[in-house]
Amino acid sequence: MLEVRLVDGRQADVDEYHELQRAASLVDYPQSPPPTRDAVLARLRDPDVDLGERLLWTARLDGRLAGCLIAQLPVDGNEHLAFARIVVHPALRRQGIGSELLRTGAVALRERGRVVVEVSQVEPNSPGARFVADRGFRTVNISVFQILEFAEVDPAIWEVEPPPGYRLVRWIGHAPEDLVESYARARHAIGDAPPGESAFRAPDWTVERVRRLEAGYREHGIERRVVAAVAPNGEVVGVTELDLQPFRPELAAQRDTAVLAAHRGLGLGQAMKAHMLCWITADKAGLRRVWTSTATANQYMADVNHRLGFATVRRYSVVNRELAGL
Ligand SMILES: CC(C)(COP(=O)(O)OP(=O)(O)OC[C@H]1O[C@@H](n2cnc3c(N)ncnc32)[C@H](O)[C@@H]1OP(=O)(O)O)[C@@H](O)C(=O)NCCC(=O)NCCS
Repeated sequence: MLEVRLVDGRQADVDEYHELQRAASLVDYPQSPPPTRDAVLARLRDPDVDLGERLLWTARLDGRLAGCLIAQLPVDGNEHLAFARIVVHPALRRQGIGSELLRTGAVALRERGRVVVEVSQVEPNSPGARFVADRGFRTVNISVFQILEFAEVDPAIWEVEPPPGYRLVRWIGHAPEDLVESYARARHAIGDAPPGESAFRAPDWTVERVRRLEAGYREHGIERRVVAAVAPNGEVVGVTELDLQPFRPELAAQRDTAVLAAHRGLGLGQAMKAHMLCWITADKAGLRRVWTSTATANQYMADVNHRLGFATVRRYSVVNRELAGL
């Protein structure tokens, strides 16, 4: 008997999820090492704080964990949207489990006022790609997934000075009071990144949102590091952000990088990112690699990443559709 239920990820039995994610990874990403138990633990315990509340549904077949659906509900201008990802154990695919998870999740997400569902990592020519295409999702963007392995890069390439007149400021977890307003304004600049037709809108950045997210990182033990570029007038005009998660001491996540339009073309993006890499390699001994992802249309960012030592590992599609009718 198949049973789909909304559950609390913090109470979940990690070994069971590890077995599911490991089996799926071996089939879906045969070239990559499968996730460790700690990586699965991190995914279960730590939501993507920037993307809002997270919900988890499980599908059990005769009591055994057969698949799950993870959804996130962004806010601050994205109340129309839910992100979702479904995984079904490879031995149990094509029996309707993925469809049942999608149906159940869609009803609940509609009840919470969401209108569009978006899946942001669909491997081309995979069962997942066929699953979403057959269910009326359309491709709205293509992203590249990039990894920097510290062992393969000469740190000398990160010795990049900021342009004259600008200085770099850095902090962990809490923006300084005297910079937080201009920092919130500079965060808006990410809205200029090529969005494709993604339903995700640049969030409405306010000091209140900044402080709320900072509290969320603290609550989940996430170390959010920020390097900001400060212009001669004392205001933040560019930022780059990186997460160090508990349970994943070897892997950092490079998040948003953005520079306000009036300050582009000066090399601030590269200087900030290079400074971030110097910083984390200097004081995080166990760290081995950093991952990031960016839209293929954002050639500028992908090029900066290549210059800093990132290699493109794979491309994937972002797809979405209306929740009505699912
Ligand atoms: C996508 C996924 C969740 C589907 O789970 P599932 O339990 O097999 O889903 P269902 O049985 O309800 O539906 C399977 C559908 O996927 C598509 N599909 C999957 N594999 C396929 C294949 N090898 N050839 C053709 N179509 C395929 C078809 O539309 C199929 O429907 P059909 O069996 O009626 O033809 C599963 O393949 C998976 O876990 N993939 C890896 C994770 C992923 O890519 N997730 C992204 C999508 S949210």
